[in-house]
Amino acid sequence: MKRGRFITFEGGEGGGKSTQLRRLAERLGDAGHDVIATREPGGSPGAEAIRALLVQGEADRWSPVTETLLMYAARRDHIERVIAPGLARGAWVLCDRYADSTRAYQGAGGGTDPALIAALEAHVLAGVTPDLTLILDLPPEVGLARAAARAGAETRFESKGLAFHTKLREGFLGIAAAEPNRCEIIDATAPLEAVEAAVWAAARRRLGLSDHG
Ligand SMILES: Nc1ncnc2c1ncn2[C@@H]1O[C@H](COP(=O)(O)OP(=O)(O)OP(=O)(O)O)[C@@H](O)[C@H]1O
Ligand SMILES: [Mg+2]
Repeated sequence: MKRGRFITFEGGEGGGKSTQLRRLAERLGDAGHDVIATREPGGSPGAEAIRALLVQGEADRWSPVTETLLMYAARRDHIERVIAPGLARGAWVLCDRYADSTRAYQGAGGGTDPALIAALEAHVLAGVTPDLTLILDLPPEVGLARAAARAGAETRFESKGLAFHTKLREGFLGIAAAEPNRCEIIDATAPLEAVEAAVWAAARRRLGLSDHG
């Protein structure tokens, strides 16, 4: 069977990743594709348990290296149990955050040595890299204000301060510049419907979908 497609949604807080992922999943599902919508950190029972350690509690709960290793432990479980089997059965796997978030949050933002992150990518991802990465870009002030409107316990990264979030944005834009064949920057300050149209256009153009998917 033909391997499925792997699409990741990336960017800082409140850019609309979860909203747009849901919409794209619906659209692809309506077009008859087998779709798996998942997220990181998490996406499998073991990885969701690790997620709670990562997204709750004090901002400085983990050192950047510890945080990187926890992210990759969760990611490996998610790949083994959900992403790789999904792609093998021919599904379209849509993932809310993936390896680029580690480059941006633990690397650009946290200061983890890029060589460690590159080694983890080489050894742990097992070649499971996205066909398309949509980077929802917006000023961190705007994204943090949107994210703050939602209540909840998962505020550890949001609480890290504007300087951190500014570095993240630069990190994501740097990834897009370095890997233009994989990455598409989407202007996330546009209205929801316009962002949805841009996501759909990118998926169509880059993955060869027809008008109807
Ligand atoms: N284009 C948009 N314009 C205005 N508001 C938006 C837009 N897209 C999403 N929102 C709103 O912003 C909030 C954050 O959206 P969403 O949860 O999809 O973002 P996210 O990128 O998944 O955030 P997080 O990084 O915190 O998970 C939601 O209340 C959503 O309705
Ligand atoms: Mg989200």
